Amino acid sequence: MAGQRLAGKVALITGATGGIGAATAELFAREGARLMITDVAEKPLRELAGRIEDLGADVAAARLDVSSASEWDEVIHVVRERFGTLDVLVNVAGIVDWPGVEDTAEDAWDRVIDVNQKGTWLGMKAAMPLLRASGNASVINTSSVLGLVGSGAAAAYQASKGAVRLLSKTAAVEYARQGVRVNSVHPGVIATPMIQELLDEQGDRQPDIQRTPMRRAGRAEEIAPAYLFLASDDSSFVTGAEFVIDGGLTAY
Ligand SMILES: NC(=O)c1ccc[n+]([C@@H]2O[C@H](COP(=O)([O-])OP(=O)(O)OC[C@H]3O[C@@H](n4cnc5c(N)ncnc54)[C@H](O)[C@@H]3O)[C@@H](O)[C@H]2O)c1
Repeated sequence: MAGQRLAGKVALITGATGGIGAATAELFAREGARLMITDVAEKPLRELAGRIEDLGADVAAARLDVSSASEWDEVIHVVRERFGTLDVLVNVAGIVDWPGVEDTAEDAWDRVIDVNQKGTWLGMKAAMPLLRASGNASVINTSSVLGLVGSGAAAAYQASKGAVRLLSKTAAVEYARQGVRVNSVHPGVIATPMIQELLDEQGDRQPDIQRTPMRRAGRAEEIAPAYLFLASDDSSFVTGAEFVIDGGLTAY
């Protein structure tokens, strides 16, 4: 039986229809949050909104490309009109590009940095006035184990996720006495559409799974509770922290 650990809170989630985003949105709904769900994928967004309504939660949905400052402003306007407040910002939207330094194309580099890195900053910038007004707010940014250690590939992705880690820490310091906590989540190998092709091709022989002490991919439902903890008042003294959920991948 779920509790109501987010009762009274309004949460905005980006990339909400993806594996981790949807698991988080549904968990937040079961825990009593009112939700603004956003993504670039509009049909899945309408379907997710329907599932969340079926859970009895108050939900609004809007298209949001996180790399667009004007789309952020529009969505924050909707949040202000619809809910009047914002207590939790969850930046989940992300894209991956696998090549290493020499094989990364310039346009792919720009797009990954725009979505993963600039999108996280734009989100905090646009939402911060409402979050500061809340006075008891939490920002949760999605980095990766690839924001902590090198893999020898995914140059743009690693650069963007490393940036999200330190952007979160400096924002945590900047807003610590203004009632806004900022933390980063660092998933390991998680079975979601982002890496499904790799998992379908290689299964548990996938090298990152072989390097994971638990020898399996995680499920999105195993990541969502970290977002719940960081969104809720249970983490009231947690800011500038890294929450690693990787089956032990970075433990050695
Ligand atoms: N799956 C993993 O193994 C893994 C590991 C570490 C970190 N992550 C991170 O977790 C987050 C969620 O990934 P996921 O595994 O659920 O992948 P996913 O592909 O299932 O979800 C990503 C979501 O982001 C959305 N999106 C893409 N570009 C966007 C944009 N410009 N604006 C708004 N939304 C956009 C997609 O439509 C999708 O719904 C990402 O930031 C990813 O980098 C994933």
